[in-house]
Amino acid sequence: MTQKIAIYPGTFDPVTSGHISIIERGLKLFDKLIVTILHNPAKKTLFTVEERVEMLKISLKDFSNIEIDTFEGLLVDFAERRKANAILRGMRAVSDFDFEFQMALMNRRLNRNIQSVFLMTGLRWIFTSSSSIKEAARFGGNIEGMVPPVVDQKLKEKFNHTL
Ligand code: PNS
Repeated sequence: MTQKIAIYPGTFDPVTSGHISIIERGLKLFDKLIVTILHNPAKKTLFTVEERVEMLKISLKDFSNIEIDTFEGLLVDFAERRKANAILRGMRAVSDFDFEFQMALMNRRLNRNIQSVFLMTGLRWIFTSSSSIKEAARFGGNIEGMVPPVVDQKLKEKFNHTL
């Protein structure tokens, strides 16, 4: 029997509790999830790819049927290489829709065998994003619970706040 494999792609700078929740729910739909970080040297990120992989590994250590990978280039090509036939994305609010719609249609235009699947973010995470969390953390705001503990710690280290 062929496995149902989905790619869960993102920048993950850093991974948030909202991402973890989508992964947890995605695992109920798919046999395996490949969580993959886009390696885009042109995009300025707070954490290096290695740091982001490390935070994902620690945050997802208790999950089975998960793989963590990185990719460069087109997402659909990566998906095909990894024998996945779905791309999983979380959607928070209407503001996410335009970007997600455009990306899903472009991916479909590029490869019709790969389906985009969307999960609506749980209400608890509707207002969180990697960017707003980084901004809060930069100025010493309490972001406990919005990110896995390892990310909370790494953000404190990055911004030199007392641990
Ligand atoms: O976490 P993000 O930043 O919303 O993730 C965006 C990501 C990585 C999923 C998207 O930028 C992507 O897939 N980039 C790879 C390039 C690609 O395949 N582009 C074609 C579709 S627009």
